[in-house]
Amino acid sequence: MFGRKKKPLLGIDISSSVVKVIELNQKNGKYCVEAYAVEPLPLNSVIEGRIENTDEVASAIKRAVKRSASKAKQAAVAVSASSAITKIVSFPSSLTERELEEQVMMEADNYIPYPLEEVRLDFEVLGTSASDVDAVDVLLAASRSEIVDARIEVLEKAGLKAKLVDVEAYTIENTFSLIAQQLPNQGQGLTVAVVDVGATVTALHVLVDGKIVFTREQSFGGRILTEDIERHYGMSYQEAGRAKKQNNLPDDYNAKVLDPFKRSMVTTVTRGLQFFFSASTQYQSIDQIILAGGCASIQGIDVMIEEESGTPTSIANPFMDMVLENKIKIQALSNDAPSMLIACGLAMRSFD
Ligand SMILES: Nc1ncnc2c1ncn2[C@@H]1O[C@H](COP(=O)(O)OP(=O)(O)OP(=O)(O)O)[C@@H](O)[C@H]1O
Ligand SMILES: [Mg+2]
Repeated sequence: MFGRKKKPLLGIDISSSVVKVIELNQKNGKYCVEAYAVEPLPLNSVIEGRIENTDEVASAIKRAVKRSASKAKQAAVAVSASSAITKIVSFPSSLTERELEEQVMMEADNYIPYPLEEVRLDFEVLGTSASDVDAVDVLLAASRSEIVDARIEVLEKAGLKAKLVDVEAYTIENTFSLIAQQLPNQGQGLTVAVVDVGATVTALHVLVDGKIVFTREQSFGGRILTEDIERHYGMSYQEAGRAKKQNNLPDDYNAKVLDPFKRSMVTTVTRGLQFFFSASTQYQSIDQIILAGGCASIQGIDVMIEEESGTPTSIANPFMDMVLENKIKIQALSNDAPSMLIACGLAMRSFD
């Protein structure tokens, strides 16, 4: 009656700097963190969402799973918004499931700018169309086969089975129920920008009432800061990465290196929002910004973004209302919390 009836599922975020794994369970109506680990990736083993070195990534996944002590053998992974195409298309609601599938496959060609034999295609019925009661809206999602297949292969090499491949933006939508608890009125009726500033990519997702209406990726992230530290203080990439997180750098670090980075991060976020406003006819304001990704942990960045954008800004914590298994280290988990959204959204697919 309680907990999960299905096999456990690991959410795995294969990002550009690390592999993040998490397994969730449900206990007494709350999510529970069963297992989790973050494992660094060698530089350039994943570039812009492409797995460049399968062996390195597979062994990082293996190490992460081992360290997490999860027993799960099935995993869920995601592809980035820029390597996937999603479209909402309407079909007559009179079609049977079978007929609908046939129609979707026949018409997909019109919406996907690649030959169909080069893509992995999937669809999901969203519900009755807002503009026509006799139609259903169907979400089409396609990604190039090589991107999807590389993920399946790397999981297999790590001794796991790929249960599902999602699109990052939809994993964020999946976590909305977790982050909504940080929002006024549980996020109902709000337009919320989730800005994920990672190591190399800044992804802006705009959600209205918890549904994704806009996603855009920019090439900006914490690696720029790491490289600035390397150059400025003659450190190796690893040393710079560590020093940055521990904040033990010379006195002039804030003024000479960190502040300029923070200013460009603020500009990246506000430009992203301006891009959204100019692309949208329907939405001209954002009620709340939620900062995610490793760079959300930079001290004072939330205040700077709030002041510059004039929008209330908070830092994502998907674990706010979760129960933790005894073996989970609270300090490590709370440090990593803002960058665990995608992995959490994937692990939550276990309860679909
Ligand atoms: N406390 C901190 N202070 C400053 N930077 C931090 C801190 N914690 C993490 N970072 C930086 O955040 C980045 C990693 O964030 P994250 O885990 O979100 O990236 P990622 O998901 O691997 O990257 P991407 O999504 O771009 O592929 C690194 O550049 C890391 O140095
Ligand atoms: Mg990331």
